[in-house]
Amino acid sequence: MLKILFFGDVSGEPGRKAVKKALPQLLASENPDVVLANVDNLAHGKGITVKTLEELIRAGVMGFTSGNHGFSKKELSEEAFKKHPELVVRPANIPNTYPGQTAAKIATKKGTLLLGHFLGQVFMENQFHDPISSPFAAVDQWLIENQTADMVATVIDFHAEATSEKKAFGYYLDGKVSAVLGTHTHIPTADAKILPEGTAYLTDVGMCGAADSVLGVRKEQSLRRFLSNEYMSFDIPEDAKQAELTYVIIEVDETTKKAINIKANYEIISL
Ligand SMILES: [Fe+2]
Repeated sequence: MLKILFFGDVSGEPGRKAVKKALPQLLASENPDVVLANVDNLAHGKGITVKTLEELIRAGVMGFTSGNHGFSKKELSEEAFKKHPELVVRPANIPNTYPGQTAAKIATKKGTLLLGHFLGQVFMENQFHDPISSPFAAVDQWLIENQTADMVATVIDFHAEATSEKKAFGYYLDGKVSAVLGTHTHIPTADAKILPEGTAYLTDVGMCGAADSVLGVRKEQSLRRFLSNEYMSFDIPEDAKQAELTYVIIEVDETTKKAINIKANYEIISL
C-alpha cells in the first residue's frame, strides 16, 4: 500500500510555517511514502520562488503543483520551475511557452508516482497570455504521454473554482488515475470519497495559511475591496498567530493502482 500526504494551497509565510511545524509529527504518526503540496500562493500569496520552494523541500515535501498564480513572480517564478523541474509541475493546459514540466515522476519506496496538474476553465481569471485549453481534452493526451505500466499511482491536482467542473473532472478520470484532488478555493470540502472505478476524489483540499484571514489574505483588505468596490492589493498577514492546516491522506493499492482510502483533515494550529 502506497500512502500519500497532500497539503492544500500553502499560502505565504503562515502557510509555510504551518507545514514546517506540522510535518515532522505527521511523518512520525502517518508514515507517508510521499509528501505533496499545492504551492500556487507560496511566495507572499502569489506564485513560487526558489527560496520559498526550497524551504518546503528541506521540510520534506517531495512534489509540488502550482496553479493560476504559479508564474506571478515572473522571472523569480520561472527560475523556480527551471531549477526544480523534476519536483514542480505546472498546469498542462496552459501554453507550452511557459517553462517547467507538466508531469513529475516521483520515486518512493513502493515505486514511481506520477503527478499531474490541470486548471479549470469555469470562473477562472486567466493569468496567462493565451486561453486555458480544455482540461478534459488535455488530460487524455497527457495520460498517453506520461503514464506507464511500471508506475504505482497517478495523482492529479485539479486547480479550479467551479465545484461542478471539479466533480465532472473527477468522474472523467475515474478508473484512469489513483486520485483527483481539487485545489484553488482555499476552503476544504467535506466530500472525500472513492469513486466507483477506484479513484480517490475531493472537491477541494483547502488551504495552509493564516487562520484569521479571508482565504489567506488580510481580512481588512478583503473587506475594503467588497465594501468600496475598488481594487486594492492584498497582503498576507505574516504576523498570524494561528494557521489553518489542511491535508488529505490517500492509500493506494500499488498493484491495482486504485485508491482504497481517503481522509481529509482540517486543523487550526498555533504558529
Ligand atoms: Fe489558485
